[in-house]
Amino acid sequence: MHENFQIKNLEEYFKIYRKSVEYPNAFWEEIAEKNFVWREKWKTIMSGDFESTNIKWFEGAKLNITENCIDRHLDKQGDKTAIIFEPNNPDEKTEHISYNNLSKRVNKFANILKQKGIKKGDRVCIYLPMIPELAISVLACARIGAIHSVVFAGFSSQALSTRINDSKCKLIITSDGSYRGRKTINLKEIVDEALNDCSCIEKVLVVNRINAKINMESGRDEWVEPLLNKASDICEPEIMEAEDPLFILYTSGSTGKPKGMVHSTAGYMVYTAYTFKNIFQYNENDIYWCTADIGWITGHSYIVYGPLANGATTVMFEGVPNYPDYGRFWEIIEKNKITQFYTAPTAIRALAKENLKFVEKHDLSSLKVLGSVGEPINEEAWNWYNENIGKKNSPIVDTWWQTETGGIMISPIPYVTPTIPTFATLPLPGIQPAIMNSNQEELQGNQVEGSLCIKYPWPGIARTIWGDHNRYKQTYFSTFKDMYFTGDGAKRNEVGYYRLTGRVDDVIIVSGHNLGTAPIEDAINEHPNVAESAIVGFPHKIKGNALYGYITLKNTTNNEDLLRNEINQIITEQIGPIAKLDKIQFTIGLPKTRSGKIMRRILRKIASNEISDLGDVSTLLNPEIVDEIIKRRI
Ligand code: PRX
Repeated sequence: MHENFQIKNLEEYFKIYRKSVEYPNAFWEEIAEKNFVWREKWKTIMSGDFESTNIKWFEGAKLNITENCIDRHLDKQGDKTAIIFEPNNPDEKTEHISYNNLSKRVNKFANILKQKGIKKGDRVCIYLPMIPELAISVLACARIGAIHSVVFAGFSSQALSTRINDSKCKLIITSDGSYRGRKTINLKEIVDEALNDCSCIEKVLVVNRINAKINMESGRDEWVEPLLNKASDICEPEIMEAEDPLFILYTSGSTGKPKGMVHSTAGYMVYTAYTFKNIFQYNENDIYWCTADIGWITGHSYIVYGPLANGATTVMFEGVPNYPDYGRFWEIIEKNKITQFYTAPTAIRALAKENLKFVEKHDLSSLKVLGSVGEPINEEAWNWYNENIGKKNSPIVDTWWQTETGGIMISPIPYVTPTIPTFATLPLPGIQPAIMNSNQEELQGNQVEGSLCIKYPWPGIARTIWGDHNRYKQTYFSTFKDMYFTGDGAKRNEVGYYRLTGRVDDVIIVSGHNLGTAPIEDAINEHPNVAESAIVGFPHKIKGNALYGYITLKNTTNNEDLLRNEINQIITEQIGPIAKLDKIQFTIGLPKTRSGKIMRRILRKIASNEISDLGDVSTLLNPEIVDEIIKRRI
């Protein structure tokens, strides 16, 4: 992204922002025109609207995103490091992958995929730890026009098979196992179990990471390394249409199965590259590190595509923040002279409670920008981050966005936007937020609070839910007319800054992970002794929110703890350990309306210990149950 597209001061921001609202199409066209390699130019900049939900950007254009992320950098900066790989174990060598080397490895991997019969439009599932092959296989898919569906390698076999089946992946890329701190995890075993339920998978490609002895099913499973050794490192890019899907990434909904959000090629590329350049004020020779996993949107947009489209150096970290000790993040920053550091409030809170000596041991003076993402950052964590990591010298960018938005939407621009703790501040150019009340009216002016919507399409918006366009329409475009509904609440303060106040639906953000309550309840209800369940969130010091389950049983038990373990075991198997309940209360009933709906509002308040303010419960079908639940709350 050319320097001219980097906003340098607040006056310029307001000028550009105004232009982007008055002439959104011209605004994005100039960015697209001057910063990317196109095989053919677009015929239309933008078409469609939220009403008909058929949004298209740069239609008619042809491109390959890997030419933009790799090939075009080779002439001028082929030897520059594209990816720095920091292994789990600090004694293992850090790997520097140059753009030249990345190009060869991506092409080789792409050629293997082709050999295995993968063609443009086929879906490839990637279930890998944070090792270079994860980024490489993502890019290899993009090289040949296959649609990648990365599944976070902490998900269970059932969660994996649901995702594989939903988009009918033909091939899966995995590893024998993974390292996480002191633990090793046998990923291939999880894949084998998942594949018992997936008839669509024809081939399994296995990367060797932990030298495990694993089951290799003949005819189906193959080690990647010998194939790579033989493969050519030249692979012509598949020329894609602007609107061809680039990837599918699953995110939890408040009900039903996970939603496979589909992102396009050109719009996504333009949006992630532009936002990366501005939000991180990325300049040549900076070393940028985002601690997310590529299994989430943050990793897709701001470890892989956004940074590489800018020719940046991006760090991939395989491990965890507390191994070998709580100083690991700070050690990596010092060692690599990290300039931009992007992490989640949960990580900040967990590290802030440890002894400061873990931080003070390290020279963090290379840092210029600190980022936060995934959930609201509370004031205490913001201050700790600012004082101890940034030494009050590195602006904090509290970036609000979603899997669905493709890239950052509301955020300070460092050294441009004055920051206030807990405020994501101002929308990026091209983004038009609206705060709505429950009467479908947009609240004008400042000092208002309501549901956050976006009024005009931007290039990075997900185009559909895989296989279910109707659900896409229903979820995002039916609550407010002609607007994209985010599912979040927000306030606008007296100077027009936005503060995100949390989800307004039944999604709970636990340690930065989106968890829908319904899928967890469905899992719990499979226990033979569970009659009914309701899950709510409650505030948690480290995780932001934790899960509280109210469960009614078919038969009483004299071993509640055993039952609690069994219930969490089912959740772990069906969804993953991230969705385990912190508290489980067995109860003889749940508060219901006369039409039989569970009153979650009351359960939320009880779980959060706000029992003095329950509101009117007299209209309930069973008001007496409220006292009973309060008496026995945990
Ligand atoms: O509730 C918002 C919260 O995370 C949700 C999106 O989650 P996901 O799709 O997993 O994407 C996470 C990474 C972009 C949002 O609806 N959220 C994300 N960032 C913030 C946030 N809430 C408050 N402040 C943020 N900076």
